[in-house]
Amino acid sequence: MADPIRFYFRNAVHEVTGVAPTQTILQHLREDLRCTGTKEGCAEGDCGACTVVVGSLENGELELKAVNSCIQFTPTLDGKALFTVEDLQLPDGRLHPVQQALVECHGSQCGFCTPGFAMSLWGMYLKQEGTAPSRCQIDDALSGNLCRCTGYRPIIDAAQRMVELPRADFDRAAVAGQLLALQRGAGSSYSYEGRSFHAPRTLDELVALRAAHPQALILAGSTDVGLWVTKQMRELNDIIYIGNVAELKSVREEGNYLEIGAGVTLQDAYAAVCRHYPQELGELMQRFASLPIRNAGTLGGNVANGSPIGDSMPWLIALGARLVLRGANGTRELALEDFYLGYQQKDLQADEFVASLRVPLPQAGVRFRTYKLAKRFDQDISAVCAAFALTLDGEIVKEARIAFGGMAATPKRAAAAEAVLTGRVWNEDALKEAMTALAQDYAPLSDMRASSSYRMKTAQNLLRRFWLETRLENPLPPSAVNAFAAA
Ligand SMILES: Cc1cc2nc3c(=O)[nH]c(=O)nc-3n(C[C@H](O)[C@H](O)[C@H](O)COP(=O)(O)OP(=O)(O)OC[C@H]3O[C@@H](n4cnc5c(N)ncnc54)[C@H](O)[C@@H]3O)c2cc1C
Ligand code: FES
Ligand code: FES
Repeated sequence: MADPIRFYFRNAVHEVTGVAPTQTILQHLREDLRCTGTKEGCAEGDCGACTVVVGSLENGELELKAVNSCIQFTPTLDGKALFTVEDLQLPDGRLHPVQQALVECHGSQCGFCTPGFAMSLWGMYLKQEGTAPSRCQIDDALSGNLCRCTGYRPIIDAAQRMVELPRADFDRAAVAGQLLALQRGAGSSYSYEGRSFHAPRTLDELVALRAAHPQALILAGSTDVGLWVTKQMRELNDIIYIGNVAELKSVREEGNYLEIGAGVTLQDAYAAVCRHYPQELGELMQRFASLPIRNAGTLGGNVANGSPIGDSMPWLIALGARLVLRGANGTRELALEDFYLGYQQKDLQADEFVASLRVPLPQAGVRFRTYKLAKRFDQDISAVCAAFALTLDGEIVKEARIAFGGMAATPKRAAAAEAVLTGRVWNEDALKEAMTALAQDYAPLSDMRASSSYRMKTAQNLLRRFWLETRLENPLPPSAVNAFAAA
């Protein structure tokens, strides 16, 4: 079976064949369609020059999200809508308020970054539906766009100005109708030169495909995999894309945990968890990559990729999250920490995939925090990421769960420090012994992000910070409570 790729573009259905399954949307736009408004800066999701807005039908509703076209593959557009900077101009030829505001506020100098900023602003404009965005919302919407010329202030002014200008309507119903007509009853398979891109629509189809193609690569949000192609120039095997599998895209509250499907985006997954842990996870959510990366990437992909410097694993492990794997023989569940067997080695059989994560909801007596250390606030990979969860029975530590990223070859619990704390009064003596014990738990590497000694010192000091914020007497308030995630 060789289905063409069909998506809604420039008010019509656009059909694509004859391109590699790993051709990026940016390549398709610039090289095949000669739509050169969308720029290439870094080709790795960092600069935002390539930002486009993708529309998809989720539970019958049109969702519009800014994403980085440089790391998304063209076949993922099947059944969706693609909007670029060329779509912004109004039907009567006037500039869109986003563009008009950039002009009025001098938000463009050399102009290279401007199409990307315009699309991130447009994404926010559609979401705000006429209401003025807060400074925090503007910062977050622009967290994935870099500008070397303006110093950002005029662009932030434009973000505030655009909602003061006469409103430009966007006909969501018309686009949703077009997308409805594009939806396929069953999964699709696109092929080119012997390589296939399978896009199942149901869990059963995915299970069958995985069993039939154990060598194929599972693709979710493509925010790791995209870079294997654009930066490492890797040729990929056949691909099984899980982004259309409805059963993997739900978040459900089940008793004392949240069940988050592997296909839920980072943005939606963190928003769901932050509703329960606003102070504890709000800052990490805002600092996890950028909005376009979180709009595309999934929590399941973060966990399945299992990078030792990934940000989700420490807090998930500290909270006691469990992983649900699905394979040809059914489902199995394991503690997340048991999934990581060694560097890039996981407890995952060839026919299996990550189906969901079970994240415990807040419990009485549990004090929980997570901290990210990186060189920049936005869009930076952690040097060290720490998470601590203590269950207290009065003054006594009943259970300690401590996990770090950036300190070992895998996300890893601090068994020695946990043993020191268990059964002890949560006081400074216990803290100091646990800080010392971290040196038995970890022997971190030196690399471009941090030296080994910096990592060890900051890991110990993060434990101290946790104690200062959760000690029995005079705890300090969390230093960076995040109004954005709590809102
Ligand atoms: C600019 C940029 C900034 C970033 N910043 C951060 C950051 O701050 N913190 C951080 O932790 N990460 C960061 N990342 C990494 C990345 O965004 C995350 O790891 C993301 O969660 C990956 O999810 P994905 O859906 O895009 O995975 P993909 O790229 O689609 O897949 C990643 C890996 O997981 C496998 N996989 C995906 N889903 C499944 C599944 N359901 N079952 C089995 N295997 C699966 C794939 O086969 C692949 O091996 C950043 C990436 C970029 C490009
Ligand atoms: S080109 Fe830089 S984010 Fe895509
Ligand atoms: S205007 Fe030159 S990079 Fe932004």
